[in-house]
Amino acid sequence: MRIRRVAVAGTGFIGPVHVEAIRRLGHRVVGILGSTPQKGEGAAIALGIPTAYPSFSALLADPAVEVVHIATPNRHHFDQCRAALAAGKHVVCEKPLATTSAETAELVDLAATQSDLVAAVNYNVRFYPLCLEARERVRAGQVGEVYHVTGSYLQDWLLYPTDFNWRVTAEDGGNLRAVADIGTHWLDLITFITGLEIEAVCADLRTVHTVRQKPTGASETFLTSTGGGRGATASVPVTTEDYGSVLIRFQGGARGCLSVSQVMAGRKNGIRFDIAGGKAALTWDSEDPNVLHVGYRDRANESLTRDPALLSPSARPFANYPGGHAEGFPDTFKQLFRSVYDAIDRREAGEQPLTGAESLYPTFADGHRDMQVCEAILTSHQSGQWSIVSN
Ligand SMILES: NC(=O)c1ccc[n+]([C@@H]2O[C@H](COP(=O)([O-])OP(=O)(O)OC[C@H]3O[C@@H](n4cnc5c(N)ncnc54)[C@H](O)[C@@H]3O)[C@@H](O)[C@H]2O)c1
Repeated sequence: MRIRRVAVAGTGFIGPVHVEAIRRLGHRVVGILGSTPQKGEGAAIALGIPTAYPSFSALLADPAVEVVHIATPNRHHFDQCRAALAAGKHVVCEKPLATTSAETAELVDLAATQSDLVAAVNYNVRFYPLCLEARERVRAGQVGEVYHVTGSYLQDWLLYPTDFNWRVTAEDGGNLRAVADIGTHWLDLITFITGLEIEAVCADLRTVHTVRQKPTGASETFLTSTGGGRGATASVPVTTEDYGSVLIRFQGGARGCLSVSQVMAGRKNGIRFDIAGGKAALTWDSEDPNVLHVGYRDRANESLTRDPALLSPSARPFANYPGGHAEGFPDTFKQLFRSVYDAIDRREAGEQPLTGAESLYPTFADGHRDMQVCEAILTSHQSGQWSIVSN
């Protein structure tokens, strides 16, 4: 492994999670960027980072920076990814990759022309060791033909009309919110595990709070759930959905059903799937991430505890602690970045990039596919009909 020099854009909820995970792998975070120079400087001091950049162009102009992590609000992803690739930097961008499929298509094309650069999207849920294990079991034929997949991604941090974040405005987050913000994690995960591509969707969305109270000062993600206070507010209209249900048809005939909500009291950050196959069924829930349930018809069901000694060879390298020593959300960032930084080493060494099923980290092509599914979901909701996913 070569030790890389990395810059992170975004100092809110998830930027510091990136900083911590990059460091756990032994790489060096050489600089950080906030929405203002003051925010960047504050984060640099708090996180012990040597440089706070005054702007994204200053970050890109730093010749020390090899890899850029983009952890800013969604509306910045397109411009920042484009500029970072053009500047010759490897990119890890937060999801969703951009806010329209026209943008994500352009980023895919740009990444293809920069074939010596790695361009990844941070669908970190793939890297829970038991999600990698589920994928391996499907690939090995242990689940049989996948008949259907059901699941959900449920949160409660936007339950009240007084809860506010940039995500609720279409301008900052994009036209879809719950689906694009958390539903895309589920869509990516299911495609990753089963290998099934989504062909068509039928969606029904609901904006529960059509007016929310926006703080006139700053607000950050999960602020109220992490004990932050509320100051003065102003009423703003909201068009993005708090809830969505989506019926799915996969290529080849399998069916699916997804529910997403950011107004489900008591569910803090729960992503769950049930994969029904002809031989077995797999169930996993991120709020109990160290257990994979395997269901059988003709023998006792199994409950597999995450333990490297019990995992398939392909999942084992991504579980770094012995059984009983729980791994969770922050570890998934470390493991996704491990896969990305390994890919950077391979490219630099002139080795062929891993492709297809061998490549584990989510690429810009994956981010583009999910944006196409999102747009089909919005079209379906607006038309009241099934919508084909364009490709
Ligand atoms: N993978 C995950 O599990 C996960 C979890 C949360 C958020 N996210 C994604 O991460 C991104 C950021 O979300 P968040 O929850 O951290 O939001 P946040 O509001 O908590 O933080 C965003 C930060 O970006 C900064 N910022 C705004 N404009 C900027 C600019 N032009 N340049 C540099 N910095 C700028 C803000 O000052 C703020 O610190 C979003 O795309 C979101 O979808 C991913």
